[in-house]
Amino acid sequence: MLDLAVEAREAPHQRDDLIEDDIVFCYFSKPSTRTRVSFAAAIAHLGGEAEFFGPSELQLGRGETIEDTAMVVSGYARAAVIRTYSHDDVARFASAASIPVINALTDRHHPCQTLADLLTIRDRFGSFEGLRLAYLGAGNNVAHSLIQGCALAGIDVVVATPESLSVDRSIVDEAWPVAAELGSSIELTDDPMQAVKGADVVYTDVWLSMGDPDEEKEARRSMLRPYQVTAEMMELASDSAIFMHCLPAHRGDEVTGEVIDGEQSVIAVQAENRMHTEQAMLVALLTGSLTGRS
Ligand code: CP
Ligand code: NVA
Repeated sequence: MLDLAVEAREAPHQRDDLIEDDIVFCYFSKPSTRTRVSFAAAIAHLGGEAEFFGPSELQLGRGETIEDTAMVVSGYARAAVIRTYSHDDVARFASAASIPVINALTDRHHPCQTLADLLTIRDRFGSFEGLRLAYLGAGNNVAHSLIQGCALAGIDVVVATPESLSVDRSIVDEAWPVAAELGSSIELTDDPMQAVKGADVVYTDVWLSMGDPDEEKEARRSMLRPYQVTAEMMELASDSAIFMHCLPAHRGDEVTGEVIDGEQSVIAVQAENRMHTEQAMLVALLTGSLTGRS
């Protein structure tokens, strides 16, 4: 899939008839800048049109079932891209749909982000061999998908969160055997300094995700302060370490401006790679082949 993304980056229009005269159904019940715009671009490059809908625009908002919506939409669109709260909603849509369904972020996962992150990491280091990624902050959807992605890629991953904001253990339990196959490790800790020591990639995300209760904001701010990625922390990482953030970012909370706008930060490349990896996903799903040649 990453090789396909590299092909997409080199020649974005080479498959401009794949979705010609067709639409991709995009349902977003949460805000989005990167995912929404990068999918729109990737779909346009493949000759198609992204049609975006929010909850109030569909009969879903008036009680029509997810299953009926999926069945109907499957007759009109070539694929569906869905960003929602509950992961079960995407799973239900996918089981009732007869077209490919892409998870564009749920409360539990953010796989499209992880795929772009893996491409960014592979580009920078040449391979995944021997790499260690440290994620610091709240154990959320991005952390979950990174654990799964690192396990598949064979990257050692260490996740540092306060105990009460830890990742879901079932994600780790499921990823363990996958990581073990490639000989990589998954480690959970509450010690941010120990996590970044020798890390090749230092990754963080917002402390309050979409859908998290706003009342928790201040409590999380004080609880997570020791997990803020600072220049001093980056000193503990490997000499060639990069800083990553899925964005949007809050400078002064999860990361200092000095780090996110500094030389080790790869946030712009990461964001651009979203478009190339999303084209790769669509090509693989619509051709049924990881080479994109069905
Ligand atoms: N990283 C990411 O998914 O950003 P958006 O919420 O803007 O899509
Ligand atoms: N964890 C964040 C990611 C945003 C792209 C959220 O869910 O809001």
